[in-house]
Amino acid sequence: MITKMLNNGVEMPQLGFGVYQIPENETANAVYQAIKIGYRLIDTAIAYGNEEQTGLGIKRAIDEGVTNREELFVTTKLFIQHMGEENSQKAINDSLEKLGLEYLDLFLIHQPYGDIYGAWKALTSAQKSGKIRAVGVSNFDAAKLIEFVNMNGIAKPQVNQIEVNPWHQREIDLSYHVKNDVQLEAWAPFAEGRHDLFTNSVLMEIGDKYNKSVGQVVLRWLMQRGIVALAKSVRPERMAENIAIFDFELTPEDVDEIAKLNRDESAFFDHHNPAMVESFMERL
Ligand SMILES: NC(=O)c1ccc[n+]([C@@H]2O[C@H](COP(=O)([O-])OP(=O)(O)OC[C@H]3O[C@@H](n4cnc5c(N)ncnc54)[C@H](OP(=O)(O)O)[C@@H]3O)[C@@H](O)[C@H]2O)c1
Repeated sequence: MITKMLNNGVEMPQLGFGVYQIPENETANAVYQAIKIGYRLIDTAIAYGNEEQTGLGIKRAIDEGVTNREELFVTTKLFIQHMGEENSQKAINDSLEKLGLEYLDLFLIHQPYGDIYGAWKALTSAQKSGKIRAVGVSNFDAAKLIEFVNMNGIAKPQVNQIEVNPWHQREIDLSYHVKNDVQLEAWAPFAEGRHDLFTNSVLMEIGDKYNKSVGQVVLRWLMQRGIVALAKSVRPERMAENIAIFDFELTPEDVDEIAKLNRDESAFFDHHNPAMVESFMERL
């Protein structure tokens, strides 16, 4: 698995497996299968409600000698109700316990709301004590990221995880991540199939040239942009398909065609929509 070097020297696999919306009773097996197929980056979150099952899948893979802890890169995230230093400290310890791990490779602030600065103190102090190797944020647009990176006395995040897919390509956001040396990580690379992504004619035609699927074209496109990508599937054949993207290369013409698909808006929701922010605030 190819890796990206984070701004604190930690190496992160460039392609990962996400467990959002995997039913709790299927998560352990999905994680185990994904590791067996070759994924080493596993992405969960407190809000997904499946940390314990994720931990069980990891444990089984390690116990059976499929991998070892050092090869894995495990991420989880603090949700809105865990903002503030004390809440975050407790949530970090709870996540470690639920996952059955002695350390996390990456811990993110899931949403840019609430006392993120208190949460950041807890994350960075857990990083200093060795409980977390890399710390980061999620759903910070470029403007919010620039503010955060430049706050006096705040250690720079290593990663920002945001929605990136052919409908929402985020070229400007990407340029500011590169400029500030913060690794961009894409969630919902397939936009969960919205706007008929998997049957899009442009993506299918590109795939046909290389005997690759739409999913593979999209993940390859993200790799070539230097983005870390998370793909989710509960089906082992799709897990295998999604990881088989390192034996072909998109041309600049392919990339130009994909660029034309950009709608410049989320396929899900706008983090600046007041009704959305209101509903997030109810969790505080
Ligand atoms: N930070 C955040 O706020 C945030 C938000 C959303 C997601 N995430 C992370 O990002 C990960 C990925 O995002 P996501 O799960 O929302 O969406 P996604 O990866 O864009 O799409 C997943 C969907 O695509 C299907 N699929 C996967 N591979 C396929 C293939 N090769 N061909 C056809 N269909 C395929 C899956 O179905 P099957 O499972 O049936 O195969 C599933 O319905 C999450 O699991 C999570 O870890 C983070």
